[in-house]
Amino acid sequence: MKKNLLSGVKPTGRPHIGNYFGAMKQFVDLQDGRGQASDSYDCHLFVADYHALNLIQDAEQMRQLTLDLVLDYLAIGLDPKKSIIFKQSDVPAHTELAWIFDTIVTMPYLMRAHAYKDAEAKNKEINVGTFNYPVLMAADILLYDTDVVPVGQDQKQHVEYARDIALKFNHIFKSETFKLPEPIILESVATVPGIDGRKMSKSYNNTIPLFATREEIQKAVMAIVTDSGGPEAGGVPTNVFVMHKLFKSEAELKPLYETNAGKYKILKEALVEDIDAFIKPLRERREKLASDVKNVIKVLEDGANNANIKANAKLLEAKKAIGVI
Ligand code: ADP
Ligand code: TRP
Repeated sequence: MKKNLLSGVKPTGRPHIGNYFGAMKQFVDLQDGRGQASDSYDCHLFVADYHALNLIQDAEQMRQLTLDLVLDYLAIGLDPKKSIIFKQSDVPAHTELAWIFDTIVTMPYLMRAHAYKDAEAKNKEINVGTFNYPVLMAADILLYDTDVVPVGQDQKQHVEYARDIALKFNHIFKSETFKLPEPIILESVATVPGIDGRKMSKSYNNTIPLFATREEIQKAVMAIVTDSGGPEAGGVPTNVFVMHKLFKSEAELKPLYETNAGKYKILKEALVEDIDAFIKPLRERREKLASDVKNVIKVLEDGANNANIKANAKLLEAKKAIGVI
């Protein structure tokens, strides 16, 4: 029996290698049956444009970033013949179900969310959409009878919120409408560090973009903050080594790092080569795909049709359970 997999990314800027290794690579691996277990999945991957609207409030930018993210998805190997690829705003059931959940989720519960607490700690006056972010995300997940949600560590709490909301709904409305989802978080890449050693994130300006040019890779790698406290200590720059392990096995790297202990420039140059060798084919594939915008639009249209069928069926069940139908 196939399991349902669902995940999404916000179209808020160029994805980076943290997004890729932490989450997006798992989308493709699991789509293609390269998961850890022998499970196979019906995959639903979407562009979370309504979530991004909390940040991107410019129509042209929103359109461009959305198409860009679909291109990114296709370039890394998501295949519209195997996966349903769609954008959130094309499936109204997401926002409709989020409203239903709004009526059973309490404010103190949402105030415990990390994202809200972080914003509050910074004294930011956040909008209602940001406050409600986990509710819309729960709707995204629960509409598709999702079993697994591949994400990075920072999204773990959001998947737990979706579980809690499913349980609460089922309990209040004495139903078994929603399935309980589990996150899939790969330990080794749960939090990929950026060039400054903090979590790699668009908002920290410390990224290596997934489709970076060679020049961009070079610039970013040369800027990696170095220290020599790495694994076998003595001349192993931790941040460079941790980044390098994403692209080559520890066994392959050992001789390089032993021979060149303390020679940061040589180690960084080797890292540039390995990142570029990895990114180049992805970059070229993306360029090819970008010349056919019609194809991208078609992918989204087909995806919307398929997603709407599934989401509407689940929404109907929920509406019956609450008694509006
Ligand atoms: P960002 O923090 O750069 O804005 P997003 O919020 O768009 O990233 O995250 C998209 C996906 O990538 C999520 O599943 C998230 O958990 C994952 N992710 C983001 N940054 C990292 C990272 N540094 N390491 C591992 N996974 C990450
Ligand atoms: N919150 C996720 C992020 O910041 C994006 C997202 C929205 C998502 N809805 C989702 C991820 C549903 C997984 C499942 O990256």
